[in-house]
Amino acid sequence: MFDIIATTFFGLENVLAEEIKNIGGQNVQPITRAVIFKGDNEALYRANLWCRTALKILVPIQTFKAFNDKEFYDQARQINWQRYMAVDDTFAIDSVASGPIFTHSKYLALKCKDAIADYFRDKRGRRPNVDVEYPDLRVNVHAFNSEITISIDSTGIPMSKRGYKTRQVQAPLNEVMAAGILKLTDWDCQTPLIDPMCGSATFATEACMMAMDIAPGSYRNFAMEKWRDFDSKLWGNLRQEAKDRRLPHPTATIAAYDRDPMALDVASQNIDKAGLSEYIDLDRRNFFDALTDGTQSGKLLIMNPPYGERIDGGSGDDMTDFYRQIGDSLKQNYANSRAWILSGNLDAIKRIGLHPSRKIKLYNGAIECRLECFELYDGSKKRAREK
Ligand SMILES: C[S@@+](CC[C@H](N)C(=O)[O-])C[C@H]1O[C@@H](n2cnc3c(N)ncnc32)[C@H](O)[C@@H]1O
Repeated sequence: MFDIIATTFFGLENVLAEEIKNIGGQNVQPITRAVIFKGDNEALYRANLWCRTALKILVPIQTFKAFNDKEFYDQARQINWQRYMAVDDTFAIDSVASGPIFTHSKYLALKCKDAIADYFRDKRGRRPNVDVEYPDLRVNVHAFNSEITISIDSTGIPMSKRGYKTRQVQAPLNEVMAAGILKLTDWDCQTPLIDPMCGSATFATEACMMAMDIAPGSYRNFAMEKWRDFDSKLWGNLRQEAKDRRLPHPTATIAAYDRDPMALDVASQNIDKAGLSEYIDLDRRNFFDALTDGTQSGKLLIMNPPYGERIDGGSGDDMTDFYRQIGDSLKQNYANSRAWILSGNLDAIKRIGLHPSRKIKLYNGAIECRLECFELYDGSKKRAREK
């Protein structure tokens, strides 16, 4: 058993902690934007393969205090780097720094690079090369005030890059954020799910993977596969187990609509790349049009409408009016359903004209957002509740 850190977005720490418990992590502790746990190689590999809401899975190799660059360099140089890489291997360093001591994370990365290079010069008379794109070893430096954690990164390219997105729309949702939002809604993978403003179809694709028990890491490779002590037999078994777990069909119907043909084109390519075209109903629809198939009850709507001040070609160019129309459409067409809306336009979302039963603060990139839940009762149900 060793320490493992899974990083995530603000607001998703508790859902990630649940995922970590489910893959066998021990002593699971959510902290800000991460979850710390204990596990063995199997837990490490499973975390990469199965966690939908983690960005990276890191293995800390040294923690220490440093109050200046020299102290940092000296202690980084003392790490037994030969345990993790050979002199002919390449490496790269990612760094994050906060607090008044280390104010430039790139400089910290440079100091760590020097420490590794000088360590190998001492031991082997020459130094390994840096390869920022495909290194044999990716090192992660985290400085919080004087507290330094140096980890090796088992993931590499963040886990949000599942491997199915070939094209993007304007303002696409990150895959980890989409999966985290689905988890925050407590979707049971049974209730029919609709994203009526789907863009590149991130919600629908992530939902379909959840409803077919598809491992989110099954489309890609991980940095740890290049590690010197990588257990390829164990990894092969876990990948096979993931293949065997995959259900032949999703346990819920999943629909993704958008009014923009370009967005649908992108969505279709992404869904196709994920191998899920047969299972997601993708169609061109304007959310403000009356439904031809009658009121949709018992559905879960999940949507990420535009946040901008103005939208092109819409039925209203003003965002306040646009969000009011969303509220009207929900009331008219989706009685007895539930809608979750993610928006970074904190003024406009108030114009939906429905009282949210839940509000959750999240960040979509740098934009502060609200994820709000609206219970859509029809008139009779509302009257019954009022009695
Ligand atoms: C912020 S993007 C959604 C991004 C999406 N969540 C993703 O992962 O790519 C908003 C989408 O809403 C769509 N949209 C705007 N108004 C619409 C309407 N009235 N009906 C359907 N789609 C609409 C836009 O075409 C755009 O693709």
